[in-house]
Formats: sequence, structure tokens, C-alpha cells
Amino acid sequence: MKLCVLGGGGFRTPHVYQALLRDTASPRVEEVALYDVDEVRLRVMVAVLTELAAGFPDAPRLTATTNLPEAVEGSDYVFAALRVGGLEGRRCDEHVALDLDVLGQETTGPGGLAYAIRTIPVMVEAARTIKKLAPGAFVMNFTNPAGIITEAMQTVLGDRVLGICDTPSGLGRRVAGLLGLEPDRVHMDYVGLNHLGWMRRVLYDGRDVLPGLLADDDRLGAMEEGQVFGLDWIRALGAIPNEYLYYYYFNRDAVRSIVASGETRGDFLARTQTEFYERAAAAVDGVAELWRATVARRSASYMAEAKGGTQDRPGRAEESGPDPADEGYAGVALGVMAAISRNERQAMILNVRNRGTIAALPEDAVVEVPTMIDANGVHPLTADQPDLHQTGLMAQVKQVERHTVAAALTGSKTEALQAFALHPLVDSVTVAKDLLAGYLDRIPEVAAVLTR
Ligand code: G6P
Ligand code: MN
Repeated sequence: MKLCVLGGGGFRTPHVYQALLRDTASPRVEEVALYDVDEVRLRVMVAVLTELAAGFPDAPRLTATTNLPEAVEGSDYVFAALRVGGLEGRRCDEHVALDLDVLGQETTGPGGLAYAIRTIPVMVEAARTIKKLAPGAFVMNFTNPAGIITEAMQTVLGDRVLGICDTPSGLGRRVAGLLGLEPDRVHMDYVGLNHLGWMRRVLYDGRDVLPGLLADDDRLGAMEEGQVFGLDWIRALGAIPNEYLYYYYFNRDAVRSIVASGETRGDFLARTQTEFYERAAAAVDGVAELWRATVARRSASYMAEAKGGTQDRPGRAEESGPDPADEGYAGVALGVMAAISRNERQAMILNVRNRGTIAALPEDAVVEVPTMIDANGVHPLTADQPDLHQTGLMAQVKQVERHTVAAALTGSKTEALQAFALHPLVDSVTVAKDLLAGYLDRIPEVAAVLTR
């Protein structure tokens, strides 16, 4: 099988490739086509992957190109993880908002909207290319904000594109680990939008074991979520929130700590990754090790302050071992490919079309819910309806996402203004206007999209 990686010169590629190297079942990926707009980064990544492949006689063949059709043609799967505007764009996503005392973050809040506006046209165009040159391909979209981007791509590809995220399954894995549950016997009752969801029940052989975990000071306190949200708040909710809900429930704290830390996550990554590409481009060997060492570097961030640790976000502390991300999004991607191409039916929490699962949201809205996936495709499982708080937040954010898609596809500044102004984390239309002006001014790729 051929796997095409959009954004192949980026930092996520080695995680994906390593997961492929360890996959020995059949059919498996035999060819990986990296696509990126940046030749230097592509060259560096080919060097990294080639080193990683040493000792694997059947390592997937590698090609790299800046030509999208060439990379896409004949693919069975496409993994998309690209960043329009690069890390400089991510820094602006964060800083424009923080300068206005509003959350500045890659995916949550106005930063995620600015990121979506410039990314949607690129990804919709990629979707058209895929439809034409690889009509049978399944697309695993990890390009953020994954829910919005997937929804936009579905207008072209329908159910052949699904959005993936490592946070719901990561949460599930940690809960199962803490309680000593056999993963295969667990059903995670999770509901939400991407980066905005709740683990409501953990069913083990039909019995909900979540209440026991919530009542257990030691176990809940050992979880990153327990430390970040506080045991009392998780108990009040009666569900474990996705880590990204920290930005909603503790918004002021989050903004304050990011500002106080003096360096955003984007600042940190821009600094460390720029250094990596410069050094790797000049190196003759040792680039895989250099990549590994760069990934292992930690930024002192708001989360570190919130929980007295050194990780960037909750969840990562327990993910020890040589390559934690293999278990993460790369593991999710591998699971999707195995389920579809080998008909290994499994339940996975994915971003798919709602189709009535959440009655309060449109049929074609992308939601993040447990699905059954196999050779017949991906189908959301029926679930209990979210409560009013959850429904309300999801509905509000979904409307914001739709204004964002409309803004990106029509170029309308009015749609963009509505998106910023209606976002639950933006508390005034005046601020929304300043956000829009700031993003237009600071991010050329946003200005190029919003032209009317
Ligand atoms: C997790 C999330 C992704 C997000 C990433 C940020 O994997 O699920 O959606 O993009 O973290 O990681 P980074 O290292 O780029 O801050
Ligand atoms: Mn994610």
C-alpha cells in the first residue's frame, strides 16, 4: 500500500514512519510519499527516516516531492499534518490573542480560528487532488484544528476523510492503565468536538468503573487531569474533561500563566525546531538522534506551572518509553489503516460526521465520538445525549467553526468577525474586531484568504 504524508517535512513524520516500521502484518504500507512545500525540510526528513529504517530490511520505500499530484497519485492512504504559515504563523496565532488578554493557543480559541482560516483553502484543494488522483484513498487528517479542517474536507471527500487526535485515546489508555483494565474489554463513552470533549463513562464488561475512579483520591490525583483540573472540579462535572478543556474551565489562569512564562509553545517550538533543521541540514549523520533529542526537549509552559511539572500539556507525563507519540496519533493512524485494509474491526474515537449521534448538532457536523471502523468504513456508535452544558458549549463552538469555514471559502471578513465574536473565549465584539485586524496585519496567509 502507498501512504502519502502531507506536510512530510514536518516533525510528526518520524513518529508515523516509526509506527510503520514496527508494523509487520499484511497488507502493510510499502511506500511512503512525503509531500511538503519546503525542499530543505523534506531532505532533512528523508535523512532522518533513512537512519530510522536502518536494521529494518523491509522498511517502506521513501519518495519526497514538492509536487502535490505526484505525491498523492495512487495512494491508498493519506496522512495530513501540515502547518500553513509555519511555526511563525503559530506564534502569531498565539501572540495576537495574548496581546489582547485572550487565550492564545494553537487550536483552542481565536488562535485556532486564524489557523483554520488560512489552512482550509489549502486542505480543500488537497482534497480535490486526492479525489481526482487517489479516488479510493482514505484520508487521516491530523492537520489542526482537526475538527474544522476535517469538516471542510468532507465537502469534497465525504466519509473518506476522518479526523484523528491522540487525546481521547490517550486519556482512555491512561484510565485503563490506572485501573488495570484489559484494553479490549473497555468501552470509552466519550462525546464532544475535537479538543472539546468529555469521558462520561468507562464501561468494563458492562459496568461503569468511572465513578470508582472519580472517588479515588490516589488514582484520580495521580492523573494529569486530576492535577490540572482539581479533583473537586472533575467530581462536580461527573466526567473527565479532555485536557484542552483546561482553556475553558481555567481560562484566566491559562492566559495568565502563558503570559507569565514569557515563552509560548509556538515560541519554544520555533526556537528549537529552527535550530534542528539548520543543524540537520548541515549534518552528515546523527540526524535521527538530533530529531529525538529535539522532541525530548520540554518547554516551561503554563501547564508546568499549573501542575508543578515540566510537561507542556497533561497526559504526556505517563507516556514514557523511547517514543511515546507512536502510541499517540501515529498509533491512531496505524489503527485506522489496519481496521480498513485488514478488516480488523475496532472501536476508535474519531472525528466523523455526526449523522444524528448528537441530536442538537447538524447531521453533517464533524464530531469526536466512539466509532466502529472496519473495511466497510467508519460509523459513529449511538450514544447517550450530552447534558445541557456540554450541548451548549459544543453547539456554540460548532457555529463558530461554521463561520470560520464560510470565511475561508468565501473570503468574507464578516464571517470571520462572527467567528471571533461568537467564540465563547472572546468576551467582546470589540476584542473580536481587534483580533481580526491583528491576524490580517500579522499573518500574510490570513490576509491572502480574507479579501472581502
Ligand atoms: C496533541 C494534540 C494535537 C496538537 C499537539 C501539539 O498531539 O492532539 O492536536 O497539535 O498535541 O503538540 P506540539 O508539540 O505541536 O505542541
Ligand atoms: Mn489533537
